[in-house]
Amino acid sequence: MHHDSIAVVDFGGQYAHLIATKVRRIGVLAEIRQPEDPIEAFAGYRGIILSGSPALSSHGEDSEYTKALYELDMPILGLCFGHQEIAKHYGGEVIHGGREWGHADLHLTRPDHPLFKGLDAVEQVWMSHFDSVAGVGEDFEEFGYTTSKDGSPDHRLAAIGSDVHRRYGFQFHAEVDDTIHGDRMFANFVLDICGCEPTWSMEAFIAEEREKVRRLVGDDSVFLLASGGVDSTVAAVILRDALGPDRVNLLHVDNGLMRKDESKKVVALFRRLGLGDHLHFIDASDDFLGALEGMTDPEEKRHAIGQTFVDVFNREAERLEIQDHLLGQGTIYPDTVETGGTRRADTIKTHHNRVAVIEEMIAEGKVVEPLAELYKVEVREVGEELGIAHEALWRHPFPGPGLGVRCLCSDGTPDTEGFDRLVPETAAAATKFGLEPLVLPIRSVGVKADVRAYEHPVLLSGEADWDTLLRAGSSITQQVLGINRCIWNLGPEHHDTAHPVEGYMTRDRLDLLREADDMVMEGLRSYDLYDEIWQCPTVLVPLALGDAEPGELVVLRPIFSKRAMTATPVRLPDPLLDDLRASILGLPGVTGLALDITSKPPGTIEWE
Ligand code: XMP
Repeated sequence: MHHDSIAVVDFGGQYAHLIATKVRRIGVLAEIRQPEDPIEAFAGYRGIILSGSPALSSHGEDSEYTKALYELDMPILGLCFGHQEIAKHYGGEVIHGGREWGHADLHLTRPDHPLFKGLDAVEQVWMSHFDSVAGVGEDFEEFGYTTSKDGSPDHRLAAIGSDVHRRYGFQFHAEVDDTIHGDRMFANFVLDICGCEPTWSMEAFIAEEREKVRRLVGDDSVFLLASGGVDSTVAAVILRDALGPDRVNLLHVDNGLMRKDESKKVVALFRRLGLGDHLHFIDASDDFLGALEGMTDPEEKRHAIGQTFVDVFNREAERLEIQDHLLGQGTIYPDTVETGGTRRADTIKTHHNRVAVIEEMIAEGKVVEPLAELYKVEVREVGEELGIAHEALWRHPFPGPGLGVRCLCSDGTPDTEGFDRLVPETAAAATKFGLEPLVLPIRSVGVKADVRAYEHPVLLSGEADWDTLLRAGSSITQQVLGINRCIWNLGPEHHDTAHPVEGYMTRDRLDLLREADDMVMEGLRSYDLYDEIWQCPTVLVPLALGDAEPGELVVLRPIFSKRAMTATPVRLPDPLLDDLRASILGLPGVTGLALDITSKPPGTIEWE
């Protein structure tokens, strides 16, 4: 069947694929295209969407693409970098400045335009950019501007357009769920402005995936790494349905980085799914902890974990005499894009299922990943369609490297590079909120304007309501370059110093983190919040506050999200915070407790 379709040009932004997903949701096929594809490749589409990018339009970066696409007689919508490129191409000006992260209010200056049909005069949108459009060319006009929450001047030209050229641009990311009515904006563009007929469906996608699996696997079998998380569970069921249970072997590895009692629960889950006979279990915690010994760098740790998975997998396949198999993985799309796995995307963090040896196996056609195109929310939908039980599908996402990315390590040396500037700038940004800031001498991973940011967190102490805390967090990370995260002190004392203590990936520290994490999970369940909250990592930071010696800081990171590409911090009820204060601060070695109040961007969900 012929489907009307849209080309999404992937300039390597974190969310390019999400644009395609959003368009497919409307029932219109969307395909990813590369910016240098020949102009003929764009024929046959009804419209084009240009994605964001880690490149800076103001500096002329990544400007060598197929510019002839601007000559095509079809509507084009640009988002973020795409918006800036459209403005520039038609005689406007793009400057390096006017940066914004996170929520912003979009005020429509052309609410009557078909692009904004059904929308309010003020809409919540999501921003992540360093550059902005400072002027537009002839035939273009402002469609909307955003207001700043921190008192700086309004950001003009946040939405622009020209009906003469049929070219439109949004500085904000309409594709992320935090742009509340982004779906509506895409529907207006795709259905009304491009005139597409909505004929595409998710069921068709599932049938196509099964077929793809059968073709790729041929007469061989699949050996799937099954963590028991949502993705590997849904992948196991798709493979079972496509190939029959006898051609699917599952391996569950206890890597020593699991939650408390996790492996027992996973074995029980696969029994319930009728895959118990095909599940092999191995305790490989010695291999993993051995490989991680003495490491402190987050990317090095991720690579070591990924490599050890492959080593253990190969050793077990040999021991179990499983021959002629492909490696199965429950990889989903964000794993690829955040690893920098699309042609231009920056490496935010290497996901364990995207390390070098796996990339080589993929190139040789030895890996099968039925969910590689999907986001978590779609994986769950597919799972529901396949009849997988609610409690298996709605478990909190848990990263492949497990507690490995939540247990920070240090050799005890304070990381104070740039503190001469960071400390006074942070103090200036925090004073108007009545909070005491402490820039921490360690770093965590974040993402800013599609680029990895390995920067310092700030600990904020003092009383403040939730709204003030969020505004303080967003204002500090926005104003102070080098700060990507703010956490709020839940401990009884304020501290004006902090120093890292020596701490590596040892069983003792992991056991401590497992206890704290278990307390948080139990707390969420007992307050009926487990289903409501999307994910709540508990992070162990080898950091002593004040004079404490030695010390570990525990950080709680409850967030709302749908697709993990963006996230907003969640407020936990005071009685739950009181319970956690009492229990976690009572754990031996824990001297501090804090709540992460950072959105993604600029902080990622996990700390490493
Ligand atoms: P970040 O920390 O990048 O995480 O905001 C986005 C989502 O992905 C999960 N995550 C991983 N999942 N392998 C996985 O399977 C990984 O290496 C990995 N790293 C992060 C994270 O828990 C969150 O849900």
